[in-house]
Amino acid sequence: MSDTIQKNLNYKQFVVDSKLQYFKPHASKIEKTFAEEISSSLNRNSKFITPKFFYDKKGSDLFEKICMLPEYYPTRTEIAILKNLQIELPKHLDDSFRLVELGSGASVKTRLILDIFTTLQNSIEYVPIDISEILAESSEQLLKDYDNLHITGIIDTYEGGLEFLENYDDKKNLILFLGSSFGNFSPNDGKNFLQKINSTMKLGDLFLIGLDLVKDKRILESAYDDSQGVTAQFNLNVLSRINDELGANFDLNNFSHYSTYNEEYQRIEMYLKSLSSQSVVVSKSNLLLNLEKNELIHTEHSYKFNLSQVRNLLESTGFKIHHIWLDDKKYFSLTLASKN
Ligand code: AVJ
Repeated sequence: MSDTIQKNLNYKQFVVDSKLQYFKPHASKIEKTFAEEISSSLNRNSKFITPKFFYDKKGSDLFEKICMLPEYYPTRTEIAILKNLQIELPKHLDDSFRLVELGSGASVKTRLILDIFTTLQNSIEYVPIDISEILAESSEQLLKDYDNLHITGIIDTYEGGLEFLENYDDKKNLILFLGSSFGNFSPNDGKNFLQKINSTMKLGDLFLIGLDLVKDKRILESAYDDSQGVTAQFNLNVLSRINDELGANFDLNNFSHYSTYNEEYQRIEMYLKSLSSQSVVVSKSNLLLNLEKNELIHTEHSYKFNLSQVRNLLESTGFKIHHIWLDDKKYFSLTLASKN
C-alpha cells in the first residue's frame, strides 16, 4: 500500500476506518480542469459541455431517477441480465479476485456482483472509481449490508483511477464498466479507452462491460426524452453546476432539453437549446458567451451497438471474449473478456 501512495502523490488519502478509505486528487486539480475545459468547449462555433460534468451530487441523484423511469430500459434490462449471471459468472471467477468498478454511481448493480463474490470469498475487496462524491454515500451503505467487505474508493476520472490502480499489487481484478457508460465516447476515444483499460490489466484479470444495443428509434428516443421531464432536468442541471462552481449566470428558463437518435451514427445526441439570443458570463472561465436563438450546446452522445460491433470493438483493442450475455428482447449486452 505504501508504494502505491508514493506513486500517487497527487491524491489525498482519507481513512474512514479499517474497512473504508478514499483517494481523491487535490482539489485544485479538479477545479482547474473544469474551468479550463468549459472555457474552451464553449468558446467556439460548435459548443459543447462534456457529459462527465453532469455528475455533481444533484446530477447523480437525477441520473438515479432516470434509471427508474419507465422509458429508460437500459438499467432494468442490465439488472435482469446480471441476475441471470448468479450461476454463470462464478464459473469464470475464483477466490482471488478484487472487484473494481468504473463509474460506480450509486452502486445498485454492484450488489448483484457482490452477492456472487460473497458465495466465493470470505473477505471481499471493492474498489469503486467515480468522479462523483456519491461514491462516499453509496460505499457507506454497502458496508452496512455486507460485513465482509473492504472498500477503497477512488474519487476521480476513469483514466485517473485506472492509472492509480496500475501495479497496485498482484491480486486479480474483475473490472466492471456497466450501464453502457462506454456509449459516451466517440468511436475513436472509445477504442483508445478500451486499449487503456487493456494496457492496465494483468493477464488473468477480467473485464465485464455493459453495452446498449441498436433498436427501434422510438424506444431509443423516448428513453432520452421521458414524459416526466427528468432527463430534461438532468441535462439542464449541468448549467446550474456551472453557475455554482464557475460563477456563471445561465438562466435555466432560457434553455430547453433537446435529444434525437441519429441512425447513421447509431447514437442519441443530446443538446441544450438556447431559447433566445442571449449573453452569459462564466467568470472563472474568463468567458463572455453569446448565444443565438435556437443555438445548440451539445451535451452528450450515447452510442448504440450491434453484436458484431461489440465483438469487433473488444477484439480490436486486445481483448479475448469469454461470453456475451443478452436479455430476451436483445436490448442490452454484457460481455466478459480478458487480456489477449
Ligand atoms: C450513463 C452515459 C450510460 O447514455 O444512457 C441517460 C446517461 N443521459 N439519460 C446514457 C444518460 C441521459 C447514460 N449513461
